[in-house]
Amino acid sequence: GMRIATTIAEMRAACRELRHARGANSILGLVPTMGAIHEGHLSLVREARRSCDVVTASIFVNPLQFGPTEDFSRYPRTFEADCRLLETAGVDLLFAPGVGEMIPANATTAVEVAGISDRLDGSSRPGHFRGVATIVSKLFHIVQPDTAFFGQKDAAQVAVLRAMVRDLDMPVSLVACPTVRDADGLALSSRNRYLTEDQRQRALTLAQALQSVEALVADGEVHANALRAAMHATLTSTPGVRLDYAEVVDPNTLEPLETITGQALIAIAAWVGETRLIDNTTVTAP
Ligand code: PAJ
Repeated sequence: GMRIATTIAEMRAACRELRHARGANSILGLVPTMGAIHEGHLSLVREARRSCDVVTASIFVNPLQFGPTEDFSRYPRTFEADCRLLETAGVDLLFAPGVGEMIPANATTAVEVAGISDRLDGSSRPGHFRGVATIVSKLFHIVQPDTAFFGQKDAAQVAVLRAMVRDLDMPVSLVACPTVRDADGLALSSRNRYLTEDQRQRALTLAQALQSVEALVADGEVHANALRAAMHATLTSTPGVRLDYAEVVDPNTLEPLETITGQALIAIAAWVGETRLIDNTTVTAP
């Protein structure tokens, strides 16, 4: 069965024990999450199960990465169902600390990945990536994984965390896994639970805008402004959808591109009602 640790001391001890049990050269993987587990999260667990001897996961709704007007208090919390899903997918050990355990009142240290943290979601959510980097850094120190698994769905998060690991010489390799989608193309997200059936239909416009960019690039369009304009046209023509950003950036630095030469990250954020959704795709100039 899956073990559950709720304190940092318990988690450290359990990681040590499992590593010892599976041998000195065993590979330990970590899948950090905020719960409300869906097939996207489970795809990361399965990838970890394939490549690691010990699979750990965490569930922590991290208050540091939510802005004061964001959905921290109403973020879906479905712990019992999450545990069943994670255990079935092959998690050996789950870390599920409370807020006071992870962020004691006297904590004053943060991890700031300057520059890149102000781009894409960091631009519309000030302080968001500082909160992400701080908590993921803590998780890395507690669990000491060899490999950590993240979703390409949050492409900017992957870029920020890669920069953090590089700059602070953290001995962990990051694996970015492909975005899992519903049959109709909607990228899975814990926040999809907020959508009404009507909003869910309108939300498909994000994936559709990305598909039209893929088609344009395949047809030879390399001017980023033409791609941005196409996304703006698609996203502003759907009632009930409000565009936050539609960008064409370098996948590593997240800096805006003028022309696509190698790989480009095409990223969209939009509000559907009160729900902010993101999606992205990576294209390569032909
Ligand atoms: P959360 O949104 O719960 O996502 C946990 C992990 O699942 C992230 O790496 C995310 O990119 C990945 N994921 C989400 N939806 C996915 C999908 N449709 N396909 C593939 N992967 C998907 O991201 C966070 O939590 C937090 O910021 C965290 C890293 C846990 C730090 O608090």
